[in-house]
Amino acid sequence: MKIPVLLLCSVVAVTCAVKVKRSRRFPKHFIFGTSTAAHQIEGAWDADDKSESIWDFLAHNNPGAISDQSNGDIACDSYHKYKRDVEMMRELGIDSYRFSVAWSRILPNGLADRVSEAGIAYYNNVIDEVLKYNIQPMITLYHWDLPQKLQDMGGFLNPLIVDWFADYARVVFDNFGDRVKTFITFNEAAQVCHDGYGSVTKAPMLNITDVGEFICAKNLILAHAKAYHLYNDEFKPVQGGSCGFAIAVGAAQPVTDSKEVHHAVELFNQFQWAMYTDPIFSKDGGFPKELLELVAQKSAAQGYPRTKLSDFTEEEKAYIRGTSDFFGVNHYTGVIVTGWKPAATSSMAYVEIGRTQDKDWPQAVSYWLRQMPKSLYIALNVIQKRYGDVPIYVTENGWSTREGIEDDERVDYYRDALEDVLDALDEGIDVRGYYAWSLMDNFEWLAGYTERFGFYEINFDDPELTRIPRKSAFIYKQIIKTREIDYDYQPESYVMSIDAGH
Ligand code: GAL
Repeated sequence: MKIPVLLLCSVVAVTCAVKVKRSRRFPKHFIFGTSTAAHQIEGAWDADDKSESIWDFLAHNNPGAISDQSNGDIACDSYHKYKRDVEMMRELGIDSYRFSVAWSRILPNGLADRVSEAGIAYYNNVIDEVLKYNIQPMITLYHWDLPQKLQDMGGFLNPLIVDWFADYARVVFDNFGDRVKTFITFNEAAQVCHDGYGSVTKAPMLNITDVGEFICAKNLILAHAKAYHLYNDEFKPVQGGSCGFAIAVGAAQPVTDSKEVHHAVELFNQFQWAMYTDPIFSKDGGFPKELLELVAQKSAAQGYPRTKLSDFTEEEKAYIRGTSDFFGVNHYTGVIVTGWKPAATSSMAYVEIGRTQDKDWPQAVSYWLRQMPKSLYIALNVIQKRYGDVPIYVTENGWSTREGIEDDERVDYYRDALEDVLDALDEGIDVRGYYAWSLMDNFEWLAGYTERFGFYEINFDDPELTRIPRKSAFIYKQIIKTREIDYDYQPESYVMSIDAGH
């Protein structure tokens, strides 16, 4: 028997209010964009007065660390080819472009005693070029490329980084904030500190497990807060934009519904990302309690005279809490959490959390990247459950392949991910925009040019570095244009053009 929907709704009004699906279209004001980062695309590593960043330094001094012994010296040469990049954005029809500023291009000494005119001019050109076509710029202040000169003074292990970063942020806000209305302080803090200071998977490869990572975490969060306050107090009243934090959130699903496994999921989330975001977004501020306790226990068991991670002071907690106007989430993949088995021998509770990926999930070229069903939806849900109705931007999401323009796997990945965004919107999660990673193939950190994430393919052996649209570029364009996901749509040809109005 069919029950009329209206009747059913009047009986269970509350449930219906939540469950009735909105149309499967992206809302009118939903922002579609693409993301890049300075070191991965700009090249021109020593143009004008730019100094070495930690990634220039790593690639120049330890080329064997990068899988194809390449570097970012030329990369996509966006320093010279930015107009073509903007043309590609117009071809795609995006609303917004997220890119990062290279600290060492703006402040060649790292410190703010001298501002590079050439550096400022370059970013002014990029900003003016995108705005000419009504594409809104979103700036990330720090996407992993610390000036080497500051690394020589300890980098994020030196508490002075808080002032150094705020000084740099002032230069960025001051020069670009009249036209740029969205700023992100740090890209993926956990990767900065865990990978760069706690292990060897990112520059500066310090491998100071736990101790280095935690010092970095505290200093980075304080640096973020100081830059936010600076923006909020001095620039926002005049410029009227917003400032936030972007973090990588992988999905973590419990293998069973048991309390123990749910607890393991919570611990996993705390170590993976929430230790960076709870101080900013949680009600009470400070690091997650369980994590602090576990680190304290481990520290004592290992003979440290004090814990490797103490909480912020009450004053610091109040200073940090609330310092983000939105939640920027970079999302790629996820894991199934199987449980937590404390072991006396390991230094970190993090490594004791059992996790796995299903071998049936499609595998990208990047070893860590599998397409976990519903993973973006799960991540968006967890953020909302943890922090309430915070505005969310998906600041990165993407898939790696090898060379080749027939990238059906990337198409599948993007369609599924955007479907997850629609599901999240249906449930009232406040997702404001989606930035795909990435506009074009680029320097993929330790993987060099062996993993391709672009809508546009680049042959890095071609001196022209010609950008060629992949199939996924046409699919993304169609989604943006129609604001819906049409699974039957296939591009008629691979010839790109710019639609009217772009
Ligand atoms: C992110 C990072 C990007 C890009 C991407 C793909 O973690 O922010 O710079 O490399 O991963 O691996």
